[in-house]
Amino acid sequence: MPNAVFLGTGHFVPDRVVSNDELAKLMDTSDEWIQQRTGIQQRRFVDFDKEPMGASDLGTRAARNALDAAGMSKDDVDCIIYATLSPDKAFPGDGVLVQAKLDIPAGVPAFDIRNQCSGFLYGLQMANAFIRQGVYKNVLLIGSEVHSSGLEFADRGREVSVIFGDGSAAAVLGASDDNERGVLGIKLHADGRFAEVLETSCPSSALNPRVTKEMLDTGAQYPRMQGKLVFKNAVQRMPEAVSEVLAEHHVEPRDIKLLIPHQANLRISEMVQRRLELRDDQVFNNIQKYGNTTAASIPLALDEAVKEGRLHKGDLLVLTAFGAGFTWGAALVRW
Ligand SMILES: CC(C)(COP(=O)(O)OP(=O)(O)OC[C@H]1O[C@@H](n2cnc3c(N)ncnc32)[C@H](O)[C@@H]1OP(=O)(O)O)[C@@H](O)C(=O)NCCC(=O)NCCS
Repeated sequence: MPNAVFLGTGHFVPDRVVSNDELAKLMDTSDEWIQQRTGIQQRRFVDFDKEPMGASDLGTRAARNALDAAGMSKDDVDCIIYATLSPDKAFPGDGVLVQAKLDIPAGVPAFDIRNQCSGFLYGLQMANAFIRQGVYKNVLLIGSEVHSSGLEFADRGREVSVIFGDGSAAAVLGASDDNERGVLGIKLHADGRFAEVLETSCPSSALNPRVTKEMLDTGAQYPRMQGKLVFKNAVQRMPEAVSEVLAEHHVEPRDIKLLIPHQANLRISEMVQRRLELRDDQVFNNIQKYGNTTAASIPLALDEAVKEGRLHKGDLLVLTAFGAGFTWGAALVRW
């Protein structure tokens, strides 16, 4: 059975840098509050006045960068898996949009998955299973988000609006006969009883019409979150999932070269680090620069870690995520 190895990673973020001070002009918040509670110093937003872009546009550029890094062309892709909570359209999904924009040959399948901050890990498990079973040889896995057009930049939305940013990242996974390397294991979980704790409730197929002026007036089109409850579950579930996948493969936390936690809040990452008793050099964070980019957050951090030379062949890499749903999980990879 072949192993699924990372052949290349890439990312793309919009040029526009948005500081905490800029947000403080739009709502009752401050640079001090945002940095103290989240660690975020800035994020990237699409500049809709200059160059409007949807998540599929960002995803297309990230995918191109990942293919370049892998030394592969669009014709080498056998399957696309695309994760987002901010697709360009209600349907069809962004997967086929990226396929067309990259000119990936007709006939190549494109999956769209909706697992929010855990989207990349959910996609990784699909890619891993496909590759190990010989269904597809080279899988293009993309996480991409444009949050900025869907946030409420007013006092009512401040708890949510200050934490999210736009961004995109991708990885090419391929089959390898090297049994020592690649994805060693993935543990995924979900608990739908918490679906309403972090959600955007409108437009909804359970409502007729799906959206009305009254709904828009109440802000139902914007994400709502019970921040403290999300925080509490995130700092419990991520270490739990990491411990689970490590135990299955008889790996001790001290043997991990790098842990990349989903970038939701620097305090969450630091608590996950403490619970796993990891050293500072074992954990990679970049939320300071990008905020929470949801499905893009793990591959965006992974690509930066790779470019900074933080991973070498044979290193043990752990990825972990927690997000809306709730969904969560962890992956163990031999780089
Ligand atoms: C959102 C979050 C940063 C808030 O931090 P917190 O320490 O829990 O803050 P609190 O909820 O205690 O809020 C403290 C106060 O700040 C206020 N506040 C909320 N957002 C604010 C903002 N942007 N600026 C200033 N004050 C704000 C609150 O209204 C509250 O005021 P009150 O004490 O008068 O009621 C934190 O709960 C969090 O990160 N949760 C998880 C988020 C997450 O990961 N979401 C994505 C899922 S992956």
